[in-house]
Amino acid sequence: MCGIVGYAGNIDTACGKPLEVCLQGLNRLEYRGYDSAGVALSAPGMDQVVVRKKAGRLKNLIDDIERRPLPDATVAIGHTRWATNGEPSDVNAHPHTSRDGKVAIIHNGIIENASQLRLDLQAEGYRFASATDTEVAAKLLGKIVDKVIAENGGKPDLFEAMRRMARMLEGAFTILATDCRQPDIVVGARHDSPLVVGLGDGENFLGSDVAAFVAYTKRAMEIDQDQAVCVSADTVTVTDFDGNVIANPKTYTVDWDASAAEKGGWDSFMDKEIHEDPAAVQRTLLGRFDANGDIMLDEVRIDEHDFKAIDKIIVVACGTASYAGQVAKYAIEHWVRIPVEIELAHEFRYRDPILTPRTLVVAISQSGETMDTLMALRHAREQGSKVLAICNTQGASIPRESDAVLYTHAGPEVAVASTKAFVAQITAAYLLGLYLAQVKGAMFRDEIHQVLDSLKDMPRKIQWVLDTQASTIQSAAEHTVNANSFLFLGRHVGYPVALEGALKLKEIAYTFTEGFAAGELKHGPIALVDEGEPVVFIVPPERGRNVLHAKVISGIEEVKARGATIIAVAEQGDPDVERYADVVFWRPQCPTLMSPLVDVVPLQLFAMDMAKLKGYDVDKPRNLAKSVTVE
Ligand code: M6R
Repeated sequence: MCGIVGYAGNIDTACGKPLEVCLQGLNRLEYRGYDSAGVALSAPGMDQVVVRKKAGRLKNLIDDIERRPLPDATVAIGHTRWATNGEPSDVNAHPHTSRDGKVAIIHNGIIENASQLRLDLQAEGYRFASATDTEVAAKLLGKIVDKVIAENGGKPDLFEAMRRMARMLEGAFTILATDCRQPDIVVGARHDSPLVVGLGDGENFLGSDVAAFVAYTKRAMEIDQDQAVCVSADTVTVTDFDGNVIANPKTYTVDWDASAAEKGGWDSFMDKEIHEDPAAVQRTLLGRFDANGDIMLDEVRIDEHDFKAIDKIIVVACGTASYAGQVAKYAIEHWVRIPVEIELAHEFRYRDPILTPRTLVVAISQSGETMDTLMALRHAREQGSKVLAICNTQGASIPRESDAVLYTHAGPEVAVASTKAFVAQITAAYLLGLYLAQVKGAMFRDEIHQVLDSLKDMPRKIQWVLDTQASTIQSAAEHTVNANSFLFLGRHVGYPVALEGALKLKEIAYTFTEGFAAGELKHGPIALVDEGEPVVFIVPPERGRNVLHAKVISGIEEVKARGATIIAVAEQGDPDVERYADVVFWRPQCPTLMSPLVDVVPLQLFAMDMAKLKGYDVDKPRNLAKSVTVE
């Protein structure tokens, strides 16, 4: 949830770069948490680590530093917080320091045995200023550092101290630390929380994800579960928590530029990312076909033989990613004729799911760091099932711990509300479904190619929605901005789209919204319908051929008769919809299974327009963080 950045530069040249790197990195990581921010700096000759931290957005910290400049440094660590232990405040902000102020740490995660450790330290006379688990770790690390110094005849060894502390902590953590007695290094450790190294020339970086340093280097190194790392300007050493050196940690090149994570003239990241929906679908399809146009998923690393044996799929995911999985269920069951279950990742392992070696578990995650999804996939693997990740973030924990990965190529998604990742996830899941149909012979080759042609045409159709529907959507938002609540209804693939539309409006416009399967209307939700209540219907395409079309129209009639305001997402020129709806967001003609890729787009825009009309920050909604790295 929190954003972490670290920098180690040249020991002979204390300068402003460590601070610059931290503030740059925090700016890019702010989507991970924005309750408070802080930095700690070390340089030769310092008696204590220099710490500055402020509650609120990063801007507060930057303004404060401009008013009271910080000294030059050789190393630095920086943090942007999403509060778990202790309210957002100056005192609870990270970094936290050791009792003597010589060591400072930043932390992402939750230390579950912090209360006991705090009591133990208090019994030894330690005092705490904050309510955080992180301060407990800071005091503990300081104590261990002193012990190591005593054992080493006065020589500090922050790396060894960090490993010893990591062995004592329970819960999830990524921790970075600096010690003013070793101003040439930054050390870190991770357990169930992300950490990645950026490899520079004469400088090295640490970050919770590559966004922390991509402006400086695109060469990255993975830090695995239960590993510790020490970076100086010229060296990177990775060990396990017992000190055994990891010989060749995996390195990779980041496949996007820093500019991809910038607003580039757009009003908000969300606006930019919605407008990248077409490109997200297109890029996810790129390079996935052989010369004959058949699907080729080389990167997937699961044997064709194993794929043939699969007799059930379980999708585990949370939030938007789970709705993408729910859309894919309709398509994959239809194409491959094997059952597909969707399970919220946080519920999965607690219901004792039936898993066999022939079950393929598909973990869908934009960030690749969602703890609930990570735990679900670990459970599936322990039970002997294969796990395939559909992920948007190279080298993240979820793809690393899966048997196979199908990357979406949506590019970095910065806004907290997931948009382009949703369409990319559906596209990747469709590729997987069609690939399964191909290897299992569940569909004729021509049929598969026909579906693929429709899929390849979807970026153009999404673009049409973006180009033609924006003003209708904006005026619909203006007309309904004061509504207290909304209902979103759909059937078949329109049902998860309704859920996703409802989620978008909840999370960024803070409007009470519920999504339902339209068939459920008469079983309860219709009681909520009152004069003027806005009800959004996803009307299925293929009128006349799709039996559900008429049923959804009946639903519209029923709520219309009770005075509701009808907003419909429907196929261009649909006469039934024209008759009943107050507002229509039109979609171009497309097959039913492709419709979610276009139908979600006006709902994303609608939520964004609504949030902007209410004056909210659409990129950083209250109480939320982009990646949920705690359970
Ligand atoms: O990074 P992930 O795709 O695993 O994240 C899953 C959910 O936390 C995420 O989709 C969340 O629901 C978004 N805020 C939705 O906009």
